[in-house]
Amino acid sequence: MGLTSVLLGRDEVREEIRLRLSGVPGMTVVGLPGYGKTQLIMHLVGELADCPYVQFAFLDGKGGPDYDDVAPRAFVHLGDDIKEALELVRYLYELMQQRQGALREHLGVKNLWHVGPSALWPLIVLVVDEAHTFFYTGKGTTREEAAAAHELVRLIEQLVKKGRNVGFFTVLLTQKGTGDAIPTQIRDVCTLKVAFAVATMEAADAGLGQAIRMYPDAHPMFLQDPKYIGVATIAREGAKGFTRVRIPTVDEDAVAERAHKYRFLASDPAGLFDVACRTLGSPGPVPLPVPDVDADDGADLVA
Ligand SMILES: Nc1ncnc2c1ncn2[C@@H]1O[C@H](COP(=O)(O)OP(=O)(O)OP(=O)(O)O)[C@@H](O)[C@H]1O
Ligand SMILES: [Mg+2]
Repeated sequence: MGLTSVLLGRDEVREEIRLRLSGVPGMTVVGLPGYGKTQLIMHLVGELADCPYVQFAFLDGKGGPDYDDVAPRAFVHLGDDIKEALELVRYLYELMQQRQGALREHLGVKNLWHVGPSALWPLIVLVVDEAHTFFYTGKGTTREEAAAAHELVRLIEQLVKKGRNVGFFTVLLTQKGTGDAIPTQIRDVCTLKVAFAVATMEAADAGLGQAIRMYPDAHPMFLQDPKYIGVATIAREGAKGFTRVRIPTVDEDAVAERAHKYRFLASDPAGLFDVACRTLGSPGPVPLPVPDVDADDGADLVA
């Protein structure tokens, strides 16, 4: 079972719009409360739940129950604690560096997507919902929290910038309609931009880039109507202009059931990397298993 793309939704002429996972290091999702940002993630998790080549990490800045249903399919699910968030992102950053160091030796390629993700080298999808919670450094934050936020920004920027060829895909969601909700250095490197309904031109600029002003027909300010819940304007690298996409309606019970059914596939990717080091090549703490060619039952592997 290969993993190359996932259904995002359908455009205005009901053509399928697929998200090419190999081509996107990061995705930003903006929009007013209640217009379908988190449901888009539920849809994606539902689509990918049975694929053994993908591992999810959920960081939910809302700190509520939104991700409880799909949490079983994730190797980690955290709330709005910035220290815990930083710990996770540091951990992923380190794994990214280890993967960079081992990629050629393990997989024989410079880009994971040339062979595709696998069980030991899965695509790692990091979802940061209500992302602004983690990036805020203004009034009321302690010096320690501000330092943590700065480090988070720096590490997430690096994950997006350098993670694609080793199988990292970062998704940041925010309802905050200001330019600083997702720092520009992160926004600029996320090549897929999704905007559900927004209230201001500034929010649309922040979500999609200023070019959206030249496409009034696709402008997400005109999505402010309950009939457009679940409809987003997207900007993709390489694609001219903007596309309106309707995200499929999510059957929450069905997605919860799938996440539960395939929970056995959730596995810490650092642990999988250790196994890869032992079976595919160094670097790793354990030497390569050497098959004993003289053994008649073939079971004698020297670990
Ligand atoms: N694609 C969709 N099709 C139909 N209904 C949808 C769709 N997406 C969302 N909805 C409806 O809108 C509700 C709110 O969606 P969601 O929780 O995704 O909003 P949100 O943008 O994440 O809001 P917030 O910023 O408050 O977290 C859902 O519970 C669902 O009823
Ligand atoms: Mg939400």
